[in-house]
Amino acid sequence: MFKSLFKPLNPPIKDWAGKRVWIVGASSGIGAALAIALLDLGAKVAVSARRADRLNELVDSHPDGKNAIVIPFDVTDSDAWSQAVDEVVAHLGELDLVVLGAARYDPQHAWNLNMDEVRASYELNVISMYEAVKHLVPRLLTQRHGGLAIIGSISGYTGLPRAVVYGATKSALQNFTETLYFELEPKGLGVYLISPGFVKTPMTAKNDFEMPGLMTPAQAAQAIISGMARGQFEIRFPRGFANGLRWVSRLPYRWRFPLLHRATKQ
Ligand SMILES: NC(=O)c1ccc[n+]([C@@H]2O[C@H](COP(=O)([O-])OP(=O)(O)OC[C@H]3O[C@@H](n4cnc5c(N)ncnc54)[C@H](OP(=O)(O)O)[C@@H]3O)[C@@H](O)[C@H]2O)c1
Repeated sequence: MFKSLFKPLNPPIKDWAGKRVWIVGASSGIGAALAIALLDLGAKVAVSARRADRLNELVDSHPDGKNAIVIPFDVTDSDAWSQAVDEVVAHLGELDLVVLGAARYDPQHAWNLNMDEVRASYELNVISMYEAVKHLVPRLLTQRHGGLAIIGSISGYTGLPRAVVYGATKSALQNFTETLYFELEPKGLGVYLISPGFVKTPMTAKNDFEMPGLMTPAQAAQAIISGMARGQFEIRFPRGFANGLRWVSRLPYRWRFPLLHRATKQ
């Protein structure tokens, strides 16, 4: 009992050589950097997103690009999911890990909501994750091994300024991924929640404020790989900033709100 309290929550992944990994949301930013890092480590990688040209560029420019396949599709399209899963499995065979990172971010205020953006954000950031689970979990359960990694965000920890849409979708993913862990870990699957802080990608290029702890996509990819080597459930980075926000998010509202107001100058 005591020993199990210190056991890794997921099977640690230390050796990536020959591992079969599907990265969804791999045409730029964190997903692209992770694809490159895993190819560097000898993994066989399938990369997906809508922009086939960007995916092809990524694969063609890597010395081990022959170990990668490009499966472009739109994750908000349910029919496209089943076709994409079939294609990936046909190329890679049994999957060791699927990383789900497609998302959109549009900072909004509560007094000026764009409802098209609200719907599109939930469709992409949340509903597409259900599509992934619907299409992938039965296969992974048949394999009896493999894992799912959901990219959330530390912005899901607590309400934050201008995150009324994005932050709420990422908060939903935290609960979603915790529940997947409860249900799938006893059946032999790994479930990882990846919680990035600020990473310099096309997604954050629109931010007009100083981003604390800003990382490069390559650093984010290394943090993900390190977290998986430790078999963590939640892989959060950068450690100092992400742990700090998590700690603040556990404070009583009476202290948390003024602290966050002051820190974000809102
Ligand atoms: N950057 C950060 O500071 C930060 C912080 C916390 C969490 N995150 C999370 O990290 C993940 C990656 O973000 P990023 O910063 O690397 O952003 P990014 O560079 O904008 O990457 C987003 C990826 O999602 C893909 N995508 C978007 N809509 C899609 C669709 N309908 N179907 C298929 N793919 C789609 C994009 O490709 P196409 O446009 O080619 O489809 C792209 O590959 C996201 O889940 C994001 O929320 C990022």
